[in-house]
Amino acid sequence: MNQAREIACLPLFSRAHQAAVDYADRLLDYLNGDFSKIFYTSGGAEAIETALKISRAYHCLTGNPQKTQVGHLSNSYNGVSLGALSIMGIPSIRKNVGPIPADSFEIPMSYEINQDNWTEYLDKIEQVILAQNVDNVAAIVIGPVIAAGGIIPIPPPLIRELKNFCLTHNILLILDEIVTGYGRTGDLFAYQGMGIVPDLITVAKALHQAMLP
Ligand SMILES: Cc1ncc(COP(=O)(O)O)c(C=O)c1O
Repeated sequence: MNQAREIACLPLFSRAHQAAVDYADRLLDYLNGDFSKIFYTSGGAEAIETALKISRAYHCLTGNPQKTQVGHLSNSYNGVSLGALSIMGIPSIRKNVGPIPADSFEIPMSYEINQDNWTEYLDKIEQVILAQNVDNVAAIVIGPVIAAGGIIPIPPPLIRELKNFCLTHNILLILDEIVTGYGRTGDLFAYQGMGIVPDLITVAKALHQAMLP
């Protein structure tokens, strides 16, 4: 409420305000130096779209403008704006909307995956990514726990191995922490319990449960 008394509403587009700067600083502290930049968006789908654009821009600026494709897990839900639908793993939400903007490909994921059998999935996932031309793959997007498409916790060792695979092939790893962030898996963010640092994380929900005048 104090914050609302100071400033009722200020869009962050091309501007900043002290509360946003302070919050970004605090969040970076909690991230223990793993990240150095926060980009505010107005919700989860926009966070995903921004992560896709940042991945493409990264490759463009580092001499690989052809790296535009993005891989996503089947059953995964990452938002319903047109760009986010590019990586929609739930077919019924993606139908009847015509061409989808971004190049993307699906990585099969199953409700059967668990701590004991994940290595079988690792092989299959790597084969699917290698079947694309990896020189054109910008990023893969993984939610540490798939939620809206049915609850599928992705075993952390699998994500760790995929991070190594991505490093080898100059592919960015985007962890969609929109449902796992802010303590919902125990750690503040799920990646913190995995022993890896993804290239980008997307968050929303608790972050912007704000008052709107
Ligand atoms: C994992 C995940 N990513 C992205 C989104 C999209 O977030 P929003 O509804 O804020 O656009 C959701 C929404 O539930 C989600 O569960």
